[in-house]
Amino acid sequence: MKKLIILSLMIFCAGTLFANPLVLYYSRADENYGVGYIEKGNAAIVAEMIAAKTGADMFQIVPEKAYPANYKECCDVALAEKNKKARPAYIGDVDVSKYDTIYICYPIWWSDFPMTMYTFFESHDLNGKTLIPFVTHEGSGVSGTDKTLARLYKTSTVKEPLAITGRNIQKDRKKTESSVDAWLKKVSK
Ligand SMILES: Cc1cc2nc3c(=O)[nH]c(=O)nc-3n(C[C@H](O)[C@H](O)[C@H](O)COP(=O)(O)O)c2cc1C
Repeated sequence: MKKLIILSLMIFCAGTLFANPLVLYYSRADENYGVGYIEKGNAAIVAEMIAAKTGADMFQIVPEKAYPANYKECCDVALAEKNKKARPAYIGDVDVSKYDTIYICYPIWWSDFPMTMYTFFESHDLNGKTLIPFVTHEGSGVSGTDKTLARLYKTSTVKEPLAITGRNIQKDRKKTESSVDAWLKKVSK
């Protein structure tokens, strides 16, 4: 009996110490700025790289209502949502309590997170966790979204974000991968 308790404790501790991270991501394929129509979104490409390199589980925030495939039309819908602080619904869910480290990969939409990400944030407590943002954009950079995370989750640790333009992710997968490698080394210390 004593042996069984010790063994269970060891398994529990190993599970806690070596729990996989989570890659939480939001990404849109279809027509995008500077890249034409793409089959897989830019954040999705890097999210998969991170998961492959870290052994992380993945959860994609997929809006219930798809955005227009046309870039300009999508921008119009997204701007209207931002202006009214919309909180669009998404499909499925993930139990974040299992994860201490969460990579959060997303595009910048109108110098902010896509509004559906706020729907997720406002219904999940990421306090006390290590949050590692990966941002894809076309000129706006991180746009303060790392600070927003720190504001939303006051007791989280937000690590230095990596930002890569969608155009560069599409153009040079090798270079993207080496930037991701160098950044992972830094943020996983
Ligand atoms: C609705 C919308 C709004 C965008 N707003 C910005 C922006 O404010 N600043 C910027 O640099 N890029 C902006 N972009 C470009 C995206 O951030 C960029 O194309 C990114 O690589 C898309 O990633 P994804 O394919 O994972 O969705 C916007 C794109 C869309 C569709």
